[in-house]
Amino acid sequence: MTHMHITAWALGLILFIVALALYKKNSNKPATIVHMILRLVYLLIIISGGLLTWDYIQGYSMPTLGEAIVKAIAGFWIVVMMEMILVGSKKGKAVTGKWVQFFIALIIVIILGFFRLPMGFYF
Ligand code: HEM
Repeated sequence: MTHMHITAWALGLILFIVALALYKKNSNKPATIVHMILRLVYLLIIISGGLLTWDYIQGYSMPTLGEAIVKAIAGFWIVVMMEMILVGSKKGKAVTGKWVQFFIALIIVIILGFFRLPMGFYF
């Protein structure tokens, strides 16, 4: 499940950058297609992350569970921000505040995911 999660979010981040670049170039049609695929990948990210969170809930040990829950909320937050940045960029709105939130959530996720929580790349 960890590999599935890593694959899902890595793919999600790549598709996010591609869709964003296409919207910026005003290539709306291809951008919309990439955006639709990205929305399916969101589901994979949330399901794989949700299953990992479920493992922590079942294993119930503090403070790891608390950190896993914060990781899950921050991960979900990144997904919401990616979607809002894309929709905002498509409409030509300012998305600076969304980017700030995106990076704050990304820092939380990287610190918790890679340095605090026990399941890293090797599981
Ligand atoms: C784009 C969004 C996300 C990114 C970039 C992200 C990134 C990461 C990273 C870097 C790790 C550590 C490496 C690994 O074990 O896979 C991880 C693990 C994890 N993620 Fe996510 N994640 C995201 C979304 C989510 C969501 C939506 C949830 C919950 C619903 C979630 C829950 C978890 C859990 C429980 C772990 C296991 C922590 C561990 O033991 O290492 N993630 N994620």
